[in-house]
Amino acid sequence: MRPEEAILVLDFGSQTTQLIARRIRELKVYSEIRPCTVSLEEIRAFHPKGIILSGGPASVYDPEAPSIPAELFDLGVPVLGICYGMQLMAHLLGGRVERSFKREYGPAELRVLSVEDLFTGLDPSRSYRVWMSHGDRIEVLPPDFVSLAESENSPYAAMRHKEKPLFGVQFHPEVAHTEIGRKVLANFVFGICGCQPTWTMESFIEATVREIRKTVAPEERVVCALSGGIDSTVTALLVHRAIGDRLVPIFVNNGLLRKGEPEEVLSLMESLGLSVRYVDASQRFLKRLRGVTDPEEKRRIIGHTFIEVFEEEARRIGGVKWLAQGTLYPDVIESVSFRGPSATIKTHHNVGGLPERMQLKLIEPLRELFKDEVREIARELGLPKKVVWRQPFPGPGLAIRILGEVTEERLRILREADAIVTEEMLESGWYYRVWQSFAVLVPVKTVGVMGDYRTYEHVVAIRCVESQDAMTADWVRLPYELLARLSNRIINEVQGVNRVVYDISSKPPATIEWE
Ligand code: XMP
Repeated sequence: MRPEEAILVLDFGSQTTQLIARRIRELKVYSEIRPCTVSLEEIRAFHPKGIILSGGPASVYDPEAPSIPAELFDLGVPVLGICYGMQLMAHLLGGRVERSFKREYGPAELRVLSVEDLFTGLDPSRSYRVWMSHGDRIEVLPPDFVSLAESENSPYAAMRHKEKPLFGVQFHPEVAHTEIGRKVLANFVFGICGCQPTWTMESFIEATVREIRKTVAPEERVVCALSGGIDSTVTALLVHRAIGDRLVPIFVNNGLLRKGEPEEVLSLMESLGLSVRYVDASQRFLKRLRGVTDPEEKRRIIGHTFIEVFEEEARRIGGVKWLAQGTLYPDVIESVSFRGPSATIKTHHNVGGLPERMQLKLIEPLRELFKDEVREIARELGLPKKVVWRQPFPGPGLAIRILGEVTEERLRILREADAIVTEEMLESGWYYRVWQSFAVLVPVKTVGVMGDYRTYEHVVAIRCVESQDAMTADWVRLPYELLARLSNRIINEVQGVNRVVYDISSKPPATIEWE
């Protein structure tokens, strides 16, 4: 739920727009991103304490340059334009923006001319390292604006209106390379907009619980699908806190989980006070997967079967009106939003399509949060480290790590090998330092020798990658000793495996999963 005080970030398509919102939230002030195509009425209805115009790839003179109504500057709400946002402000208010003959990209030295407002607390006798990324620059300030700072290539690296609370900076305060970034944003949010640092995860939890209590009528029930991962667990806990056992969490065992996982998830839920409906549908899933080798076909079958099982279970419960989902903010924000609110809303999660079929209304308590904020809530709610920092695990489970057909025997081999990988990664402390680490069963048999016998058995591959967001990834340079232990243990302890290989491919061009 949105708190009263909020900063609105209008997105003009910059790669770092999300970072702006995160930085503001780190200051304990709530912030939301909207596409720059949002109407003036919507902006008014949002009642922002301040507005930030993001950067963007366009030039104000491009025929299709994204813009905003100039009335925005007369709302009486403080506005801070960043990079393109500053140029647009200058352009709309009568200044002159021109192509710079030198692109300024990367670090620059900023000299501050005025240590008030945006630059309160800075030292005018020194320069500061800031990060720039622009082709155009402001040649003539709009009437009634003054320069606040300069850099070698930008005579007006920061500006403000003489009377109105309108500000612009050519550099990017949201990126870590700008050493005064946090200070500048804090000056804007607290000093200029008058916000208070009250948006904490604790207050978020309280407000969310209150909101859910108000939303769900006393006779209504809510279902949610648990995976054991952090998003669905936190979602379930918040809803449970609000309406108790009128929340019915459903945990479906699809037969594709890791060794000991169903038991672990159930005991975790029990320790959290959630009474879970456990559905063991493994045989149904495995039967449908029989003979299937195509990865996308596997995904499709698993997705459909999941919805089927979940729907049956929800109908059995009766009186279910709501589905709670752990959708996060990055799933919701429309990217490249200056082209309009079109783009990529992921209808991910295994229950895609279910709300429409069962006419369920959605509760998505995390839809305003970033992943690290969810982790903070998880800590606040007392979830163990193993859950807070659990590595991502794909919905289709081990099926997409068994190349070729999924059979009981192949599941057994992969489960055992994977359990050894996880155990050793945890033991050595590497588990929490990497994005994902797991075993893959390769559909190839190779010759080996064990004792005096020739063997002809399976190959297991180990995949271990580091990544920020799974869009790109690199293989982790695990110590040889650890790799040796993994290989020895898997070959010695997992019957049916006589060779272990380590995957040294980065993404792109490879993907993280093998299927
Ligand atoms: P790739 O293999 O595309 O994986 O580099 C990127 C991230 O997504 C996860 N992944 C999936 N998650 N359903 C999921 O819920 C899927 O079908 C799926 N495929 C890949 C993968 O584990 C990695 O974190």
